[in-house]
Amino acid sequence: MTSETLYSIRMRASKGERHISGAERLVVRDRIDATVGELIARALGRGCDPESITVNIESLGTEKPVKIKALDLVTVNVPDWRTGRAAAQRVLVMTGVSEQAVESAMLDLDRGAAPSGGNMRGAMIMDARTGKRLEPDQWRGVRASRFDWSDESGVSIDKALKQAGLTHFRTREALALATKVAHGAGVVAELCWSDEPDYTAGYVASLRSGYVRFPFLKQEGKDRGGRAFFVQSGDFDKKRLIQYMQSEAVLIDQIGTCRETKSVEDYLSGVVQR
Ligand code: COA
Ligand code: AMP
Repeated sequence: MTSETLYSIRMRASKGERHISGAERLVVRDRIDATVGELIARALGRGCDPESITVNIESLGTEKPVKIKALDLVTVNVPDWRTGRAAAQRVLVMTGVSEQAVESAMLDLDRGAAPSGGNMRGAMIMDARTGKRLEPDQWRGVRASRFDWSDESGVSIDKALKQAGLTHFRTREALALATKVAHGAGVVAELCWSDEPDYTAGYVASLRSGYVRFPFLKQEGKDRGGRAFFVQSGDFDKKRLIQYMQSEAVLIDQIGTCRETKSVEDYLSGVVQR
């Protein structure tokens, strides 16, 4: 990508009150047309016909995106969601999140972290020591936005993920989102599992752990999920972090490694040796 002005293109599709899909890109002017087509095809291609599709196109003007390297990805094989959650807890504790905060986040995500017990529209922000919720609005949460792979790294990550057997578009997008989140000032780690009933995989991500993917973090058929952004306890600038997550453009211009490991023990012993 050259130093041409970039445009943020964001698509969301809904049915009634329900959000059914969302995706976004950062592209140069000449690619706007094709990208809008791709995003609309994505909104229409999910078997669930949307009633409304909204596409926002916004110039970044003179803002230059921050360029960062993708987190390394590792899949830790677990046989079921209970083992997956126990393994995810160990990884989160290794990154500096307290057991209390992990348990609190997992309870919230399990029942739906909105005050009603439903899914939030974005992520919780949680104190990594105490587990206290810090997001200004517990229905909405905070959504990471304005991020993408550069042209070259997008091609490379597709190849690397394919080689690792990870062809679902969600992995590519979740890895990009998690990379942006992990680089936020004050972020200790992220925990995510989807609210899609048939998508059981989830991840823990941080600068220290990389993106650690678990094939099972949730029971098949459950429609509750979400994200927790764990942040440093005490002295951290929440306003600054929210501004970064929602508004600052980030382009991922280098990929990391993609590999698989047998067990959480193998994974953790590798991290300790780093
Ligand atoms: N769940 C529920 N509602 C959502 C939503 C979500 N994930 N995303 C958007 N909406 C709805 C909300 O009603 C929202 O209003 P709110 O701000 O009060 O919550 C409204 O749409 C407008 O959202 P906004 O974020 O301003 O729209 P946008 O057009 O700027 O961006 C997205 C929409 C979906 C592209 C963006 O929010 C996003 O999530 N980007 C990341 C996509 C991605 O790569 N995800 C990886 C998943 S693996
Ligand atoms: P998904 O990965 O799309 O299945 O989303 C899972 C959950 O993550 C949603 O229910 C939201 O709570 C939350 N979420 C969705 N989009 C974002 C985002 N852009 N940033 C942070 N959290 C999000």
